[in-house]
Parts: sequence; C-alpha cells; structure tokens
Amino acid sequence: MTAVEQPETPLGHGNMRRKEDARFIRGRGTYVDDVTLPGMLHGAVLRSPYAHARIVSIDTSAAQAHPKVRAVITGETLAGLNLAWMPTLSHDVQAVLATDKVRFQGQEVAFVVAEDRYSARDALELIDVDYEALPPVIDARQALAEDAPVIRDDLEGRTDNHIFDWESGDAAATDDVFASAEVVAAQDMLYPRVHPAPLETCGAVADMDAVTGKLTVWTTTQAPHAHRTIYALVAGLPEHKIRIISPDIGGGFGNKVGIYPGYVCAVVGSIVTGKPVKWVEDRSENLMSTSFARDYHMHGEIAATKDGRILGLRVNVLADHGAFNGTAQPTKFPAGFFGVFTGSYDLEAAHCSVTGVYTNKAPGGVAYACSFRITEAVYLVERLVDVLAFDLGMDPAELRMKNLLRPEQFPYRSKTGWEYDSGDYPTALRAALDLADYPALRAEQALKRERGEQMGIGVAFFTEAVGAGPRKHMDILGLGMADGAELRVHPTGKAVLRLSCQTQGQGHETTFAQIVGEELGISPDDIDVVHGDTDQTPFGLGTYGSRSTPVSGAAAAVVARKVRERARIVASAMLEVSADDLEWEKGRWFVRGDVEAGRTIQEIALAAHSDLELPEGVEGHLDATCVYNPPNLTYPFGAYVCVVDVDADTGQVTVRRFVAVDDCGVRINPMIVEGQVHGGLADGVGMALMQVMAFDEDGNHLGGSFMDYLLPTSMECPSWELGETVTPSPHHPIGAKGIGESATVGSPAAVVNAVVDALRPFGVRHADMPLTPAAVWSAAQGTPLRT
Ligand code: CDP
Repeated sequence: MTAVEQPETPLGHGNMRRKEDARFIRGRGTYVDDVTLPGMLHGAVLRSPYAHARIVSIDTSAAQAHPKVRAVITGETLAGLNLAWMPTLSHDVQAVLATDKVRFQGQEVAFVVAEDRYSARDALELIDVDYEALPPVIDARQALAEDAPVIRDDLEGRTDNHIFDWESGDAAATDDVFASAEVVAAQDMLYPRVHPAPLETCGAVADMDAVTGKLTVWTTTQAPHAHRTIYALVAGLPEHKIRIISPDIGGGFGNKVGIYPGYVCAVVGSIVTGKPVKWVEDRSENLMSTSFARDYHMHGEIAATKDGRILGLRVNVLADHGAFNGTAQPTKFPAGFFGVFTGSYDLEAAHCSVTGVYTNKAPGGVAYACSFRITEAVYLVERLVDVLAFDLGMDPAELRMKNLLRPEQFPYRSKTGWEYDSGDYPTALRAALDLADYPALRAEQALKRERGEQMGIGVAFFTEAVGAGPRKHMDILGLGMADGAELRVHPTGKAVLRLSCQTQGQGHETTFAQIVGEELGISPDDIDVVHGDTDQTPFGLGTYGSRSTPVSGAAAAVVARKVRERARIVASAMLEVSADDLEWEKGRWFVRGDVEAGRTIQEIALAAHSDLELPEGVEGHLDATCVYNPPNLTYPFGAYVCVVDVDADTGQVTVRRFVAVDDCGVRINPMIVEGQVHGGLADGVGMALMQVMAFDEDGNHLGGSFMDYLLPTSMECPSWELGETVTPSPHHPIGAKGIGESATVGSPAAVVNAVVDALRPFGVRHADMPLTPAAVWSAAQGTPLRT
C-alpha cells in the first residue's frame, strides 16, 4: 500500500472506520428479504422459455385451484387495470406481464401470489401457456437487416428494430483531420454484454393499506424518490400516499436503478389480495431478466502523426439495447456519457455516432459501476491508443505521456463539448509508472521473451465524468438531477442529516457524517445519516454513476454551512457582538481578536432552543435544508498499470501485479476510497478475463448462474498496489470528485492491453473481451474468437 499518508483526525475527514459495519459484521443488517409483515404473502414470476414467441393462450385454472394460492395475475389482469405496460427510464415502454408476445427468454408472463414462497413456485408449474415460436434477433449486427423480424410490433408504425441514432463531435472537421493524417489505425472491438450481478438479488415487499390508501414498498432501489414518482405515474396513485423504503442494499452497481416488473407485480398482488406481498428473485432470474450492461459493438479509428501525436478519433457504435429500451441515462444522452470518448488526450477533432437497436434479449444497458457508458468510451480510446502504439512501434506509456492533456489546459473543453473541471494527468501517469517501476518491467519482459515466456504490461489512463448533473442539461424522465439535504441539530448538539441518495455498501453513513462533521466541528459519531426512506428524506435522484459525493455530498456540505451561518447569528446574540465580528474555527464561533470569547456549536445549539433573545426575523433552531444543483460534473481520473503472465499453450492469464493511481480530488475517507478502488479493480479483472452474458442462436441465455457467469475472487486478483494524486474539483464545495466507479472504468483496458501486449510475439494486435483461456489461446493461434 503506497497511498499518501493522510492524518487521522478525530472529527471530519480521515480514515474513520465505517459506522454501518457494526451491524453488517454482526449479521444485523436489514435487507428487503429480512422484512416480514403480519399476514404477508409471497409472489413468484412465471417466465418465458422462448426468446421470441407469440402468446396464444394462458390457462391459469390449475394454479388458481392450488390450495395455497391467493391470486394469479396475468398480462390480461394488468391490462384491465391499465398496468400491463410501464414506462422505462428511456422513454420507452416495457411489458410488466406479457400480453401479446414474449421478447426475451426469462420475460415475465404471470405472477402467482401464495401463502408461502414454495407454493407460489409450485403453482407456476401449473400455469399452461401456449406459445407460437417466432424467429429471434440475437446478434445486434443482424437487427437492422431487411428481413429481420420486428420485435416491437407493439409500437405503432414500427417496421424495424431501430431505436435511435445519436452523434457527437464535428464530423466534417474529423474527416478533414483523417484525410490529411500521416497514420490512421482502425480497430473493431466489442464491449460484451455483462451484468452488474449484485450479491443481493432484486426484490420488494409491497403493502397497500386499504384503509389509509397508503402504499408502502420496501424495495431494492438505488433511487427511492425516483421510484416513488414513477409508481405514482404508472399506477395513478397520489405520490404522497406512496412510501418507498430502501433498507440495506447488498450491492447495486446500476442493477437497482430501474423498476422491474416483479416490483409492480408485488404492488398489484397486495392491492388484489389486501395483504402485504413479498417478491424476491433468485440468482438465475437476476442474471437473466434484470438490467445488463455494455453490449457495444464499436468501430474506432485514430489519426496521428508518424511521431505519435494523436490528431483525431472517429467512432461508430452499434448498441444492443435488448427488447425494451430500458437504459438509465439522462434524457438528452441516449448513449449515456459515451461522448467523453476523447478520453484524456489533446486532439484536434473527434466524432462518434451511436445507433441503438432492439434484440430479443433482456432490457437494460445500465451504468454498471460507471457513469452512463463511460466504461465503454474509456475502453475504446485506451485500446485504440495501444493499437496505434502497436502500429507505430512506440511504447504505449510514452505515447500516452506525449498526448495527455497538460495541467495548464484545465478547465478543458473537449472536442465533444465536455468541460473537464481539473486535472494533472502527467503527474498521475508518472506516479503509476514509478510505482510499477516500468523500465524494470520492460527489461524483465525482454528477458522473458528471449526465453519464450509471455509477460504483458498494460497501461491505461482514464477520465471519468461523474456527478450527474446540472439540471439544465440532465434529467431522467423529466426529473432534474439535483439532490436535497436536510440537517437538524438537536439542543444537545447531536445532528441528523437526511439525504436523498442511497448507499448500497459504499459507506455513506460514515462519509456523509464526516462531511458534516468537518464543516461543523461535530464528531461524525454524533451525526446520524438517514436515507432510503421517501417519507423521511428530501427529494433527489439517487445513487448511481458515482453521483453521491459530487451531488449529495455537496448538498451535505452546503446545508452544514447554512447551519454554521445560523449558528453565527445565535452566537452573536450569546456574545452580544455583531455577527460580522465573529470568526469560525472548527466547532466554534469566537470574537475576532479575542479567541477565548467564543461559543462551541454544542453551546450554540442549546442556546438556539432556549429563551435567548434573537435578532428580529431570526426564528431560532439551527436546522436547515438545501437543494444542490451541480454547476458541472466532476472529472476524476487515473493511471493504471497491469502486469500479466500468459501461458500461450493453455491460454491461462495470471494478473501478477496491478498498480492504480487514482485522483478523486479531496478524499473524505481514504480507507473507504481504497475499498471502492479495490472493488472496481476486481470488477475490471472479471470483465476483461471471464465475463460475458452469452446467448445461443435461439436466444437461450447461457449465463444464468454463477457457474457460467463468473465473478472474480481473490484467487484471480493480485494484491492491489494503490497510489494517489489529489487535484481538487474547483466547483465542488469540498473539492471532492466521485470515486465509486473509477476503477471499474479504468481497469478493463489495462488488463486487456496487458494480455495483448503479452501476445505480441504472436503478432496479436487486438483481442476481444472476455479473454478466457479459449480466447487467448485462439488469439495466439491467429484465429481470434468473436463473441
Ligand atoms: O455514488 P457512490 O456512493 O456510488 O460513489 P461516490 O460518490 O464516489 O462515493 C463512494 C464512497 O467513497 C462514498 O462513501 C464516498 O463518500 C467516498 N468518497 C470519499 O471518501 N472521497 C471522495 N473524494 C469520493 C468518495
């Protein structure tokens, strides 16, 4: 561990241990499946065995006759309630339960509510569905073929599988740059369909109180407030009569942003039976039917001078969105933040175009541990830079160093219109190369190559854009992406911070208390963080895309500063001096020039609730609220070096070393930051080497369990070697940028670059993920696998 030492401080920032771990390590967390209500019933979903088929008939009579079954709900039942279809987060609609056709294997067809989980599952077997199989569209590259079956014939006037075309950058200027460039390197590459695969699957307990008309839903959601609004819109229920509780969440990674049919069915089940209904999916259901990520077929070109100055990038993407366009991107960005594909480099022009298509696969395209498609963008540019280095015979680290944005260029406006807030990229890359001892690694590699051993060194640099986002540019379903915060300070100086975002294991109960603690001089132990309950917290758009610290974290700092200003007025009344004559030091206001004459925040809190006479117009109490509308995204960045050993005979890859230098601005809790980086690096190893949601030609899902869809473990991961640089965000109140997803974004390219580098003696210039032993072996044979 080489992280720069950061002082331990009793208050505020520092390596405070996570407050929430006290309950987690004792097994006392409360997850949705731990919620048990009196009289609660259990739901189970019948799913389609076909990827594409017309539903001829559904016979539920035998299931209805099961002694423990209380209700069987079909698409027809829902159609009667106008609930058969629900809006997706990308202005499409998705079937809650299929009425006309099934459009992917695992799609929801019927919902059984029974007295226990086993009976509900047993009764699924009693439902008789008559399907008429249709030809499926599985390969996105065939989706727009003339004779491709039309998947979304439910949409009026739809005659093909096209969803959207989107472009960014200046096409003409880019063509000019390419026309006159000395060198152009091109490469097709696939970012395969992968899955966020949180350890806790999705689920809900819905309880409709027929007397009060209040619906309470305990549910696995990363965005409780957005879910409440969507339920109100879908079901026509008044929003104030809906309470969403997101209790402890066992990992989200983008998988728990949208609303799934099972949640809606649990709600309908509760309305129909008058009892609370629990629905929790199993592992296969989670992998087969909930939001996937990536699935981008990319063609990239990079233009440069002969001596390696990068001039331009030109990119075409075919995006496989599955059967319903269920991506979770801000409205104006159908390809998420893919527009950041120019990465960390200074170039003259860039252009990309993205075409989205429907296929007979599960919907999604979520931001799996990344800010809306930035992982795809970073992978693309970092592979292209390596391909260029290959063609030019240049060292990839040297090529990057030559083209990185320079510190004096910040704030930097990219050729696709993004304003990077701050950065010192060469310092970060140098730090990573030093930590890795890059020259020594290259020397070792040269020796090994002489002996016929394959060792690879992969370098990657990334820039992320996190903290969506400025309300002017970013909304989801019309909901602006600003976050509220409320801070109450009790008479004894203890505080409660209420937030709209929702932790899924990132440690918000600790770090948000640290932010307020630092601002007010109250110990974080004396500050409780309340989140995940729409009845108790202010509105906001939730936690994904590493937006919590950039948006809600800023809100926490701003609301604490409001409290501090209120405390100043109370202190001035206590000390009988003008508020202008007071100065703040952590935890107290004192009279300028007389440091002894001061009052602590605790004394002030008590006085604010007392009979102290306050100036006209001052209400008393210190409590405050705020809504934070970020002026810009924050742009964390990092430099990664991965070292692999490859056995070309078996295709086995061993990740021997991984050096990661991250810059997320000011670190609130360095220990938590390192934990976030460790998790993301492991994610990257998983995606690069072992993960793909594969399908056969009939659309059968081939990754429905953790036997087939592999998660990286400590066996596949090296001991991470971390470093850091700190370039504060100039617009964030405490200079912090997000970190939750940086490592997931940056690491796949480093691993793939390393494996391809190891295979250089075989002439390999590119190989697609996942670099399984079969893929590596085939690449070494000169016959790369195509997924
Ligand atoms: O939105 P999400 O929580 O997934 O991501 P994040 O905002 O990047 O934060 C992940 C965790 O790292 C939180 O507990 C943050 O408070 C913490 N963090 C930090 O300590 N310092 C930073 N500069 C950024 C995040």
